[in-house]
Amino acid sequence: MKRIAIITSGGDAPGMNAAIRAATLTAVKAGSEVFGVIRGFQGLITGEIIELTSMGVSDILHRGGTILHSARSQEFKTEEGREKAAKQLHDLGVEGIVVIGGDGSFRGAQALSSMGFATVGIPGTIDNDIECTDLSVGFDTALNTVLDAINKIRDTALSHDRVYVVEVMGKNSGFIALYAGLAGGADAVLIPEIQPDLDQVVHQIQKVKAIGRRHSIVLVAEGVFGQPLTGISISDSAAFKVATFINLKVKKDTRVTILGHIQRGGLPSALDRTLGTQFGAKAVELLLAGEKGKMVGWVDHEIKVSAMEDAIARKKQIDYKLYQLIEVLAAT
Ligand code: F6P
Repeated sequence: MKRIAIITSGGDAPGMNAAIRAATLTAVKAGSEVFGVIRGFQGLITGEIIELTSMGVSDILHRGGTILHSARSQEFKTEEGREKAAKQLHDLGVEGIVVIGGDGSFRGAQALSSMGFATVGIPGTIDNDIECTDLSVGFDTALNTVLDAINKIRDTALSHDRVYVVEVMGKNSGFIALYAGLAGGADAVLIPEIQPDLDQVVHQIQKVKAIGRRHSIVLVAEGVFGQPLTGISISDSAAFKVATFINLKVKKDTRVTILGHIQRGGLPSALDRTLGTQFGAKAVELLLAGEKGKMVGWVDHEIKVSAMEDAIARKKQIDYKLYQLIEVLAAT
C-alpha cells in the first residue's frame, strides 16, 4: 500500500495526536506516503488534505486536540457528499484510511469501505462508548480532568456545607460519570444506562447527612434524561433539573457546575499517549498487511483487532456492579 490517509472526526480527544504521529511514522518507515485530512469527513469532501511527514508529526505527541482538526459533517451523510470524498481519495491515489474517532466516525469509515477503500478505525472519544475495546483514546485524560474538578469542588462544598451537582459529558453514555463517581467518591451518580430516580438521590443525600457529613457531591451524566442538546442554556441542562429537584426536597444550599468542554482539552495522560501510539502503529500495520474494515482496541491489557461492524453494532454496556458500589460506599 503506497498511499495512506489519516482522518480525525467527531469530538476531538486527548491522545489523538499520539495516534496520528505513530500511524504516520509507521507508514513512512514502511515506504508509504501519508496524507492528513483536515476537518474530518468535511475536509475530505472539500479536498483539505496535506502531506504528513516525519517532521510534520514531530513534537505533537504531548499536545491535546488534533493537529488535523475535526468536524461533524452533515454533507458526508449524503450520497453526493460521499462521492465527492471518494473522488478526492481516488485523485490522490489513496488506498488505505485510518479513521480516528467515535461511532459516528466509524459509520463514515464503513461508508468508505463500501466504496472500495481499506479502512481501519482507532477508537478516539472521551465518552469511552465504543464496543470491542475497554478503553478509547481520550477517556483517561477526561476522567482525570473531571477528578481534578471534583477535588476542587469538594473543598468548597465542605467549607460551605453544600450539595454540589456536577454535570459531565458522555453523550448518551455514562462511563465518565460512573468512573469519576467511583474515583471521586460521589454520593450519587445519574447515568443514562439507569432510569434516573431523583427520590433515591435525595435519599442518598439524607443518608450522608445522617452519618454526620454536611456536604454532598452528585455526579450527573449530561445524557441522563435523553440525548443532550448542544449549545443550550444552563437551565436546560440535566444538572440543573437535578439540582432544582434536590433543592425542593432537601433544605440545603445547592450549586451546579457544568464541566463542559474542559473535559476534552488538556495534555493527554500517559495512558492516552501510550494507547494512541500503539493504536496508531497497529492500524497502519493492519492496512499494510491488506486488512480492511477493522478496529484496533484494548481488551484485557492487550491490543485486540475486531471487525469495525461489531464495534458499532451494539451500545457498550456499563458494569452495574460499579454503580451499586458507589451507592453502598457513599452512605456507609
Ligand atoms: O463525543 C464527545 C463529546 O464531547 C460528548 O461527550 C458531547 O456530548 C459532545 O461530544 C459535544 O459535542 P460538541 O463539541 O459538538 O458540542
